Amino acid sequence: MTEKAVRVTTRERDSFPSDAKNVLEQLLATDWSFAERAKAPLIESIHPYPAKFIGDIPRALLDILPVPEGTSVLDPFVGSGTTLVEAQRRGLPCVGIDLNPIACLISRVKTGAEPDKLQEMAAAIVSRARANKTPDRRAIPNLDHWFKVEVQTAVAAILEEIRDLEDDGIKDALNLCLSSIIVRVSNQDSDTRYAAVDKAVTWDGVFDAFTAAANKLQIAMASRSWTQTSAHVLNKNTLEVQPTDLPGKVGLVVTSPPYPNAYEYWLYHKYRMWWLGYDPIEVKKQEIGARAHFFKTNHHTEENFWEQMRGTLKLIDSVMVADGYACFVIGRSKIHGVVVDNAAIIRSIAESMNFHCVAQIERVISASRKSFNLAHANIKTETVLVLQKMQGR
Ligand SMILES: C[S@@+](CC[C@H](N)C(=O)[O-])C[C@H]1O[C@@H](n2cnc3c(N)ncnc32)[C@H](O)[C@@H]1O
Repeated sequence: MTEKAVRVTTRERDSFPSDAKNVLEQLLATDWSFAERAKAPLIESIHPYPAKFIGDIPRALLDILPVPEGTSVLDPFVGSGTTLVEAQRRGLPCVGIDLNPIACLISRVKTGAEPDKLQEMAAAIVSRARANKTPDRRAIPNLDHWFKVEVQTAVAAILEEIRDLEDDGIKDALNLCLSSIIVRVSNQDSDTRYAAVDKAVTWDGVFDAFTAAANKLQIAMASRSWTQTSAHVLNKNTLEVQPTDLPGKVGLVVTSPPYPNAYEYWLYHKYRMWWLGYDPIEVKKQEIGARAHFFKTNHHTEENFWEQMRGTLKLIDSVMVADGYACFVIGRSKIHGVVVDNAAIIRSIAESMNFHCVAQIERVISASRKSFNLAHANIKTETVLVLQKMQGR
């Protein structure tokens, strides 16, 4: 990364506290394009998630930025838990918040203890579910359009078995296995293409896919060579979280917030949520940046994002220790033809509060990161914003 690609302003570098100067040197020495991608741990591939971090980003930030003794790493938009896994790999306690229950399920499983005999449990569930030809099928909108009836029967029978389990860890693990195969066994073309097509999925195929997912999960969980430090995952709207909801003080924030008109996390996981008993429509209403909010009467504007980021930074400020760092990885948006610089918004709010900007780095997004709607905004780069909370204000 050349110095040219990094903009540092507000304070001259010479006025930085010495630890921040050190941090800046290391940020400048990092190649943020990650031309040489590190191999992701197996646990990262247990469930699809849109717009997730490439692990290299939180990894680089956690390698450089200090986390004071007795504090945690926080990701207020935790998604699939990439930041939490990287924190655990360094033996650090961590906290994640997400509105989306599927995100929280993935984050809990990735950071949780390995359940005993997951494969055996999955096999027992499959054997009982196969015998249940009339499970209680759910009242889910447009179910027949998205799922063949034989597929519905198999999924519902597996769910009935999981529902009766008492151990939360194993229940989460098995729910994750089912969630991970929902799009594959549906009529939906793919995770990133929201169109119904005729797929050769059968009743048997659902049980085979579920069994394979459980095998894969057990291997991935067992392959974690690090200790599972304490990880709290809050399934809440970040804008409604109170400082007292967190288990203690935060020393470092590493997050990629949702931003206007870019992704639709609720839509991506819509049928996963319906099947697991959550209401995607409630999630949609509260989801920051969801495209649906920008295509209705009285649609959202850039001002909504200012408010949402003000709320987020207020929470971070109230839980973070002095000198702690907060990192945001964020791209630009296009709202009704106008490009919005989301990093500039976050930075401006942060600088009006207790934070100074240590570095603002532009990085190129890999073309292989697909989504339903990234292309519409022609988003090609994103910004890594490193802020530091100042002392005594
Ligand atoms: C860019 S993704 C985070 C991806 C994450 N870094 C990862 O590696 O998987 C942004 C997340 O913000 C969540 N989100 C959107 N609105 C939210 C809200 N109001 N409160 C909490 N989370 C929200 C979405 O559900 C999504 O998981």
